Amino acid sequence: MILEIVTVPNPILEQKTKPVEKLDRTILNLAKNMVETCRNAQGIGLAAPQVGKSIRLCIINLEHMGIPPFVLVNPKITNRSWKKVEMEEGCLSIPGIYGIVKRPERIKVKALNLEGKENELEADGLLARVIQHEVDHLDGILITSKLIRRTDGTESKDRKQLKE
Ligand code: NI
Repeated sequence: MILEIVTVPNPILEQKTKPVEKLDRTILNLAKNMVETCRNAQGIGLAAPQVGKSIRLCIINLEHMGIPPFVLVNPKITNRSWKKVEMEEGCLSIPGIYGIVKRPERIKVKALNLEGKENELEADGLLARVIQHEVDHLDGILITSKLIRRTDGTESKDRKQLKE
């Protein structure tokens, strides 16, 4: 089922989310619908507040890079590289706005999967980028507070896949 994507201004986008306590059928369905919604919007990631749920869950959709969509439940970034890189980002909740955001190049993130198993993942490149963007959403942080400068959305080589 395709869910409605919440856009700015909406207070839910600026609230810190609550941890997921139980991986029940509702959560499994939500995650499945978020993947479908993200795909439909040609996005690379989607966080629960963007579909109106203030809980600590997001999905990453880098299918175009050969990475099957996956879910991060209660993610926590446990390590960030000193080196930061600039990249253009867009957000499905902020239509039409693009800009350069500077973030650590590499991260480690701990999260539960949908079976409740804790995994630690090391990421760089676009994967590190999208995870950091989604974890920001879970902390109520939007790219508008991080933009170094606005762009027109064409700086990415892969424009369609830029929105998160
Ligand atoms: Ni976003």
